[in-house]
Amino acid sequence: MEKRVYIKTYGCQMNERESEGLAATLRNHGYEITDDEHSAEIILLNTCSVREQAEAKAIGKSNFISRGKNQGKLVGILGCMAQNFGETLYQKSPNTRLVVGPDGLGRIPEYLDRLMGDKNRRITDIEVRPLDRKFTSARDEKKVKASLFVSIMRGCNMRCTYCIVPKTRGSEQYRPMEDIIREIQWLAERGTREVTLLGQIVNNYGTHQIPFIGGKSPFVQLLEKIQAIEGIRRIRFMSPHPKGFKSDLIDAYENLPKLCPHVHLPLQSGSDRILKAMKRPYKREQFSSIVAALGEKIPTISISTDIIVGFPGENEEDFEATCAVFDEIKFDMAFIFKYSPRPGTIAENFGDQISQEIKEARNQILLKKVEYYSRQYNESMVGTVKEILVERRARRGLQQFEGYTPEHRKVIFTATEDLIGQLISVKIEGCTTSTLLGKFIPSQVAGEA
Ligand code: 5AD
Ligand code: SF4
Repeated sequence: MEKRVYIKTYGCQMNERESEGLAATLRNHGYEITDDEHSAEIILLNTCSVREQAEAKAIGKSNFISRGKNQGKLVGILGCMAQNFGETLYQKSPNTRLVVGPDGLGRIPEYLDRLMGDKNRRITDIEVRPLDRKFTSARDEKKVKASLFVSIMRGCNMRCTYCIVPKTRGSEQYRPMEDIIREIQWLAERGTREVTLLGQIVNNYGTHQIPFIGGKSPFVQLLEKIQAIEGIRRIRFMSPHPKGFKSDLIDAYENLPKLCPHVHLPLQSGSDRILKAMKRPYKREQFSSIVAALGEKIPTISISTDIIVGFPGENEEDFEATCAVFDEIKFDMAFIFKYSPRPGTIAENFGDQISQEIKEARNQILLKKVEYYSRQYNESMVGTVKEILVERRARRGLQQFEGYTPEHRKVIFTATEDLIGQLISVKIEGCTTSTLLGKFIPSQVAGEA
């Protein structure tokens, strides 16, 4: 059997990063990674359990790809769903032969070797293990790009009542600071200019393990160290939690020039009553104060958020409170989720579940707001000149490229291939609701760091 692997990723950036690490690990073991699922003999689905819809998609896919002319392909289900369902996945997806949770991803080459030698065998690994230092930093030199994700921790110690993450990814574990720095230095030497630090709650990084120094949390200390890495021009992170968003982190926006003026800060609900039922340990007022403090330091800062509509017990008044916060803060971007009850979470058994129709109606109202504020923001950018990190060719046309502003707005602009990986100036000339359109200004190529 050939060793061509197709990896499909569902869900969050953490999964994207883990799939990237898995691809690098598999290549190192002699496997070929392909983008074409039809030519692959091995199909690995890296799944998500955050909402039911994501799970249904992955199961549908696993069954579809193992039937008809695809029979005989080796199918594996990895990640959060694997952890969540374990061996019961074989009932939902009978042709699957490999089920591996997030902690076992580094062992997949070994499992595939074994499975290929024995067609009647299945392997399940949902053991909870200490962080795999080698796997979390696995990189493929040929795949280094201008902007990359870097995982700094895993798991979550919060117990938000709707969330399955603590069950699938376990308690918080932090990568040693020196591992993270070494990885980013290695990337910077090979052309990476922007890193996005990933974790369920990045600002919890190092809690109770790395001491505060001069009032600065371990996360801010990490940011300072990355600021000092030559070649890195931009630092981002996802997602912080409002609870640990203290003045040291707010000050970092002023003190660290590489820290991009964008914060994705999940609000979840604008109603204090619902926040309490969600076990989110802050009130609407505190959330607004963080945003106000950030705005005072960096007036151009862009704020985006996550919101869940239709959490059990959410009445009209609660929803209106969410709308009111939305109109007060005018989020530049937001992801709106319809509440999805997850097995094994605290909220699963809450009474007063909200009907699908109401969830849908509330979703639509908020989506309109997202569209409105996003367009308003984009229109305010027209006529300005922005610094863009050129990431890749845009699909649109031959000379169209794409990249992001420091505030994380996607821009499509005319440029040339040689500019990929560079920071350039782009004059913004137009926009759609979600994207800015512009033109490269050659006289203003920002120099290398
Ligand atoms: N239902 C709907 N949305 C959810 N999220 C997490 N769990 C659920 C759920 N059960 C959303 C939250 C989180 C984002 C990643 O997914 O808004 O911030
Ligand atoms: Fe889930 Fe809450 Fe942890 Fe985020 S903070 S991963 S929503 S439990």
